[in-house]
Amino acid sequence: MEKDIARILISREQLDRRIRELAGEIVASYPALDGHLTLVTILNGAIIFLADLIRHMPVKMRLELITVSSYPGKATESVEARLTRDIAADLRGQDVLIVDDILDTGKTIRLVRSELARRGPRSIKAATLLRKPNKAPRDVVVEFVGFDIEDEFVVGYGMDYDNHYRNLPYIAVLTQEAR
Ligand code: IMP
Ligand code: MG
Repeated sequence: MEKDIARILISREQLDRRIRELAGEIVASYPALDGHLTLVTILNGAIIFLADLIRHMPVKMRLELITVSSYPGKATESVEARLTRDIAADLRGQDVLIVDDILDTGKTIRLVRSELARRGPRSIKAATLLRKPNKAPRDVVVEFVGFDIEDEFVVGYGMDYDNHYRNLPYIAVLTQEAR
């Protein structure tokens, strides 16, 4: 696996530090958290981010998982986003925080935001570990971003290429040969 890595973009230490900060920013943004916080995490890419983030958020919260498919197999450009696993939880009156790994074209966040907004939450915000600002359209709002990165395909820390490399503890760029 290591031989497929061209370069480490964000180290384990940088991730730890920034995620701790981000958790603080998120908690501070909710002045009245009274047990109504529901995190809706987009599978599979955001699982590692979620696990690290919530352990720095010492507040009462519920966790829900949703699946959106947009990258078929070895594709590195997303196609139309589709909800393939939904949640049954009642979101009325909840403060919903959408958690995803990366904001790329924005199709995923746009879809999930509009789907969840229809379910009567008290508020909706979104947090992504990464953002490709050169690609993300202005109308797709993400309130909390860990790192802005260049427009290149990355893997690790939950993110995959053909469902591999999610277990890398850092964020990296693959070699030409590995793709
Ligand atoms: P969007 O809908 O184009 O914003 O794409 C968002 C989804 O595509 C994310 O949830 C990721 O799962 C995936 N994705 C986007 N860019 C990358 C990347 O560079 N590496 C791995 N997955 C990516
Ligand atoms: Mg994803």
